[in-house]
Amino acid sequence: MILVTGGAGFIGSNFVIDWLATGSEPVINLDKLTYAGNLENLKGLEGDSRHRFVRGDIADYDLVLRLLRENQVRAVVNFAAESHVDRSIHGPEDFIQTNIVGTFRLLEAVRAYWGALEGDAKAAFRFLHVSTDEVYGSLDKADPAFTEQHRYEPNSPYSASKAASDHLVRAYHHTYGLPVLTTNCSNNYGPYHFPEKLIPLVIHNALAGKPLPIYGDGQQIRDWLYVQDHCSAIRRVLEAGRVGETYNVGGWNEMPNLEVVHTLCAILDELRPRGDELPYAAQITFVADRPGHDRRYAIDAGKLERELGWKPAETFESGIRKTVRWYLDNSQWVANVTSGAYREWVDRQYGVA
Ligand code: NAD
Ligand code: TYD
Repeated sequence: MILVTGGAGFIGSNFVIDWLATGSEPVINLDKLTYAGNLENLKGLEGDSRHRFVRGDIADYDLVLRLLRENQVRAVVNFAAESHVDRSIHGPEDFIQTNIVGTFRLLEAVRAYWGALEGDAKAAFRFLHVSTDEVYGSLDKADPAFTEQHRYEPNSPYSASKAASDHLVRAYHHTYGLPVLTTNCSNNYGPYHFPEKLIPLVIHNALAGKPLPIYGDGQQIRDWLYVQDHCSAIRRVLEAGRVGETYNVGGWNEMPNLEVVHTLCAILDELRPRGDELPYAAQITFVADRPGHDRRYAIDAGKLERELGWKPAETFESGIRKTVRWYLDNSQWVANVTSGAYREWVDRQYGVA
């Protein structure tokens, strides 16, 4: 059995769904259900005895250790984090707490559990830490893409807190021998993406007739990967990655933000025209830039391809079309997460945390 943390969030829930669809091994899903965690993402797993959800904090050492021991967990995949750059600018504290202190406590519980294992169980155990390309900082236009050797130069409280967690994971391998793996992935997009991030926000605002906010000049470049490709990369690294190594994950899909937004508008014009003859691009509005906004991210995923044979299955064109269709087909999901109805339900179900 594996323990997934943050498995009610965007990437974690996609990972859990894909994991159970592609194999038979059960999952314990530990998630605090912050604003970003959503049990509705996991609705399709209701009645599946291979999935057990536990509401809790990765910083809760006793809870984590108990879950590991009771279930004889053979691997931990750590998605749990505060993940939104803009929120980290307005309020960094939660990022320090979960991404740094939380990862530290999680590592401590894992170290205690793994230290008591013996023989094959000890040799086969893995801790996979899911991280981001943002730890490497910002590239100039002509710079080569980030490799695993690129120095860490995080620029936002979010990326600094993720960088700190990566360093802790690395240190637990070098100091204690903990069998860790780290993945640093580029920007994801796809189903269950909370509509505070660029792609789901633009789809949501477009359909709601609201402005599509472009920070600064919109020429910042991100490297986009369809979320299921990220999940398949994590599965591959968990299966065959070399202990102590880090693997960059990306789709070779660099694009300026403005181009991403125009692409979304064009697909929506085709699939769900506005009804007044005007294109959705008419809603594009330039707004103040994000403080400290990183100009360009680009991932060199060559190591993962060479060593483990991983390649993304989707192009940006195929993945973004699937994503827009998903949001059109799942308007109730968006309505629930944006209306506060979901939060009210969580508070009723679990008591206000
Ligand atoms: P998300 O914000 O959608 O989900 C995070 C999940 O973690 C939520 O379900 C939340 O409830 C849970 N969580 C938060 N604090 C917790 C705590 N203390 N204990 C237990 N659970 C907690 O984030 P995401 O986009 O799915 O990202 C998942 C991971 O992947 C993060 O570590 C992020 O840094 C990394 N990552 C994200 C991207 C991206 O484009 N979204 C790219 C590369 C890496
Ligand atoms: P985001 O989805 O927040 O991801 P990240 O900051 O982790 O890359 O933002 C993606 C890019 O889009 C980033 O350059 C900021 C920009 N952006 C906008 O221009 N407008 C928006 O409303 C948002 C949320 C982001």
